[in-house]
Amino acid sequence: MNLLIQDAGRYYREHFGEPTLIVRSPGRINLIGEHTDYNEGFVLPASIDNAVYVSIGARVDDQIQLFSVDYKEFYKGSSAAISVSLQSWANYVLAIVDVLQKAGYHCGGFNAVVRGDIPIGAGLSSSAAVECATIFALNELFGFKLDRMSMVKMAQQAENEFIGVRCGIMDQFASMFGKANQVIELDCRSLSYNYFPFESAEYDLLLINSRVKHSLADSEYNLRRLDCEAGVAHLQRFYPNITSLRDARPEHLQQAFHSLDEKIFQRCLYVVEEITRVKEACEDLKLGDFITFGKKMFSTHKGLSELYNVSCPELDFLVHFAAGHKDVIGARMMGGGFGGCTLNLVKKEALADFITGISEAYLESYGVLPEAYPVTIDEGTAVVRSS
Ligand code: GLA
Repeated sequence: MNLLIQDAGRYYREHFGEPTLIVRSPGRINLIGEHTDYNEGFVLPASIDNAVYVSIGARVDDQIQLFSVDYKEFYKGSSAAISVSLQSWANYVLAIVDVLQKAGYHCGGFNAVVRGDIPIGAGLSSSAAVECATIFALNELFGFKLDRMSMVKMAQQAENEFIGVRCGIMDQFASMFGKANQVIELDCRSLSYNYFPFESAEYDLLLINSRVKHSLADSEYNLRRLDCEAGVAHLQRFYPNITSLRDARPEHLQQAFHSLDEKIFQRCLYVVEEITRVKEACEDLKLGDFITFGKKMFSTHKGLSELYNVSCPELDFLVHFAAGHKDVIGARMMGGGFGGCTLNLVKKEALADFITGISEAYLESYGVLPEAYPVTIDEGTAVVRSS
């Protein structure tokens, strides 16, 4: 059995008795479509084999008692009075209790143990995984009968309101709806989606973790959203039918540019181009045209770095190195930005050589050895053990 499930069960038994169930929620990658979700565009994520495990059981009183195996810390509080904790890991659980209760789903007291192997601050959505595991586990434990999409929306709301990051829907959606070996094309406006296999005999997906933790990311992330909203408000003066950047074309931006702040123009241009790029990239993948797909990854990185300004020198270095390697056909920073991982599309037989080369070069420039994780696309949120 998976060691992390064992840990989640063992620590629960040690502190609280027998858990009622254990839920697994994975982290995610996103092949293309960055910062498009909150602009009602398209994204192409997949859930991965790194995950968070939450073991849980009800209590007779209204207490919430949590233990994090990774932080080796306890949290104790009451479900009747949820407030932000100084223990940041506990907030992702509390955020879910808060959102559920505000929507009328009463949570009694419960114990939970949290264990995971998603690198924190690496852009692989460890926080969304904790939120999804918690809401799935509470839904089972207290019989709320919420469907997956409702849980995704509530987990996103929890992140927006309790944590204060105005994230889009992608991370919680990918963690909840992922399927082994499938990527998901999600329309973030209609929330319609379809799965298709990511299969290549020739290329592998590889994550390189810059190990720069994206500490700036939350505040800068919210600022990017404000920039997009300012862009839409401006465009609406010329084109009243534009309600989000999903509706805008580069021509609209050019037309409105003379009175649009240059920074806002660049942000909007990146988003508008990226939304089109995702649609085209999905077609490339469906046709098995990895070379054209890979080129789009480089274009996305350029846009994120030069127009959207969410990269950092370390991520630019990693992508630049990848671009110069003959067996890497695509690379870009992934997720919110300001640190975390790059995603690389690499010829299978060149993986070892590429990892050695990029690790040595990065170590020499930044004094840090990056981590390399080959990607395995795995199942989304599920109960992995119940008593
Ligand atoms: C973070 C957010 C997502 C998405 C990405 C950028 O991961 O949580 O909603 O906006 O950044 O694509």
